Amino acid sequence: MIVLEWLTPDAVDNTLPELASLLIDAVESGASIGYTLPYNPADIESYWQGVATAVRAGHKWLVIARLGDGTLVGTAQIEPAGKANGRHRAEVQKVIVTSRLRKHGIGTKLMHAVEDFARTQGRTLLLLDTRANDAGERLYTACGWTKFGVVPEYAYSPDGSIEGTAFYYKHLT
Ligand SMILES: CC(C)(COP(=O)(O)OP(=O)(O)OC[C@H]1O[C@@H](n2cnc3c(N)ncnc32)[C@H](O)[C@@H]1OP(=O)(O)O)[C@@H](O)C(=O)NCCC(=O)NCCS
Repeated sequence: MIVLEWLTPDAVDNTLPELASLLIDAVESGASIGYTLPYNPADIESYWQGVATAVRAGHKWLVIARLGDGTLVGTAQIEPAGKANGRHRAEVQKVIVTSRLRKHGIGTKLMHAVEDFARTQGRTLLLLDTRANDAGERLYTACGWTKFGVVPEYAYSPDGSIEGTAFYYKHLT
């Protein structure tokens, strides 16, 4: 059983150590998610502190996925555009599923939750980016997102190789 929860500002602090472990697992399993090896644990901690601050300010919406026994197994974020002319728009970030439970549909559940929540907030245009030719591309394509381009040599992967990044959007109806 997978339980999804949108973290309230009060709940976010208690979850930060688990979220840090999830991100570390992603980096160590080779995901292109903002960090290279060797990573500095303090950078990951301060990243999540920044997310918590943004959640408290209403500048990010953060969902987590737990197993029935409470184990954190996934997360995703939505960052609503702050500009008046982008009030219908948001960026989806840091979609992560624990490496031992990938390909079980958790990523798809997170994406459906992200889209449903964005819609309730009036955000009807979503954007995201992900490493080209990676699992994220398959997930987003399967969820009906449209790829609008690839920038070659956009980001370093954990192993130090430089890879292209694919950019996607989805209009929610
Ligand atoms: C990208 C990511 C979030 C996908 O999460 P996931 O939980 O594996 O996604 P899903 O299980 O919903 O779908 C992935 C695959 O599993 C398959 N799948 C889903 N449920 C399944 C099941 N019950 N049995 C077998 N396969 C299944 C899907 O068909 C899909 O197959 P494909 O990749 O061959 O097309 C995950 O790989 C991840 O965390 N990667 C590292 C972080 C990252 O790169 N994030 C994206 C950039 S932000």
